[in-house]
Order: sequence, then C-alpha cells, then structure tokens
Amino acid sequence: MPGKKVTVVGAGFYGSTTAQRLAEYDIFDTVFLTDIIEGKPEGLALDLNQSRPIEGFQTKVVGVTTGTDGSGYEQTAGSDIVIITAGLPRKPGMSRMDLIETNAKIVRSVAEQVAKHSPEAVVIVVSNPLDEMTALTAIATGFPKARVIGQAGMLDTARFTNNVAEAADVPVSSVTTLTLGSHGDTMVPVPSACSVDGKPLSEVLDQATIDELVDRTRNGGAEVVALLKTGSAYYAPSAAAARMARAVAEDSGAVMPVCTWVDGEYGISGVYLGVEAEIGAGGIRKVVERDLTDTELAGLKEAAEAVRAKQADVADL
Ligand code: LAC
Repeated sequence: MPGKKVTVVGAGFYGSTTAQRLAEYDIFDTVFLTDIIEGKPEGLALDLNQSRPIEGFQTKVVGVTTGTDGSGYEQTAGSDIVIITAGLPRKPGMSRMDLIETNAKIVRSVAEQVAKHSPEAVVIVVSNPLDEMTALTAIATGFPKARVIGQAGMLDTARFTNNVAEAADVPVSSVTTLTLGSHGDTMVPVPSACSVDGKPLSEVLDQATIDELVDRTRNGGAEVVALLKTGSAYYAPSAAAARMARAVAEDSGAVMPVCTWVDGEYGISGVYLGVEAEIGAGGIRKVVERDLTDTELAGLKEAAEAVRAKQADVADL
C-alpha cells in the first residue's frame, strides 16, 4: 500500500519481530521502529533493510531513538498505525497485573506522544496488563475508542488452536477455536465455538482433555515465560499484532478477537474487553456478537467486571 506508514514503539523482541513481519508483508511504505535505547532501533532497522534483497521486500525500516521528553517522535509523524509494545515483560512467577504501575507510566507517556504526532492513527496496544493498558491508551490519546485496540484474543486463540491441534494430532489448519474476555486470569476460552474439521470439539476430545487445554491456553503466556526465564513470548504475539495492523492497512473487514470498547453488546456496558470485532481502516467497525452458552456468557461478564475495576484504577496511574 504505497504511502502507508506504521510505527512500532519499543524495539525489544516483541517490537522488533513485529517490525520484521510488517516489513516482510511489503504493503507499507515505511515501518518506524523506536526505542529509548540509543542505537538499538537504528541498528535493527539497518539489519532488517539489509535483509530486503534476500527476502524481496521494498518497505523501508527506519530506526528512531526517542527521549523521555518525546524527542524523536516527530520523525514518526503522520503514521497511519502505531503499535505500542513499550513496557516491561513479565519475569517467571509474575502475573501480567504485577506490571501495572511501571507500564502505566511508560504507556501513558508514549500514548501522549502518539496523539501529538500521529493524531489520525489507529493504535494497537500490546503492553501488559493488556486490557488495562488499552483503556489507558484510549484515555491518554483522547482518540475515539474505535481507534484504540488491544491485542490479546488473536494470540490466545492461536495458542488454543495450537493446543487442540497437538492434542487431536491434526494440522492447525483443521482447527478453529476462540477465546474472549481478558488477557489474564478471566480469559474465556469458548469451547462452543471450537471445531476440528468442522466437528464440534466435544465430539473429538473428551471433556477432561478439553478442560486441560483450556487451562493451558489461559496460562499460555506464563508457560513461555517460565521456559525462557528472561522475557516473554514474541513470535506468536508479534504475528497477532502484525495481522491486526494488516487488517487496518488493507481495510479488510476481517473479524478478529481483539480487546475493544464494549458498550451494550452481550449486555455489558462501557469497558475494554476481549470480543470479536470487524477491523477496517478506521480501527473497529463493529463488535460482532455470537451465541454463547450460559457458562461462557457468565465467564465473559465476570471478565468484564474484573477488568472494569482495574481499568478504573489506571485513569490515575
Ligand atoms: C503473552 C504476553 C505477551 O501472553 O502477554 O505472551
């Protein structure tokens, strides 16, 4: 897409792999990669650009060191999409919520700079705790809620699908799954929306196995953190964020599970929550409701109340 610009804030593993995926799509004019560590984004950008002749993409990656005073952001001005990965990842044993105070300060200051320099951007938030950082970004940018989206459902759903594919010993392409709710303890895997080669999950796997896979999905991020010991997952998370950005860039209308503003759908009012939504050039076109079982709907409402309480706190962080 000629002329399109996307900025990835934060050049850690999540940010740099997201920048790589976006550049390799070859649909953007420029991918800006920023970080507060001087030289890191520039070095990664140079390295990525040197891969272009081999991988055969034209998108230019531009590395930008930003200062805590907001210097550097002017170079990213007019970005159509901004992905915020800034903040600390979890350490083994930590919950995403343990990051709230530290990451709120970082995400708020980033969001303010984004609003100043790219006032028309669609913002995709991936920093943790996800639902709260998405709500905070909406507050700090002052953007319409449709233009601030969180990445979680795409990732959690991908993990669920991978878990089911391994348990059923089928290709991932045979499996459809869904998770809604929060990107945390109140994540709601939705077995009624899951199938293997079109057959309901309950006909393919026994209930004990499904329960185990649901649990493993809910703890999917922590499982990777525990293995890595430093840092958290980034291959699947960056794939999820990049696909969301692509749906925005291409105005595709794809329906994806994302963290978005829910106001009335499922009888839930006024909260950022993981649901399915149609994505286009302006961000969220609409929330897409589906039939849930009573248990699943109760889980979604419980998640809404859990994140609502925390989202009220972030306004003051
Ligand atoms: C995860 C982090 C990125 O779930 O939230 O891996």
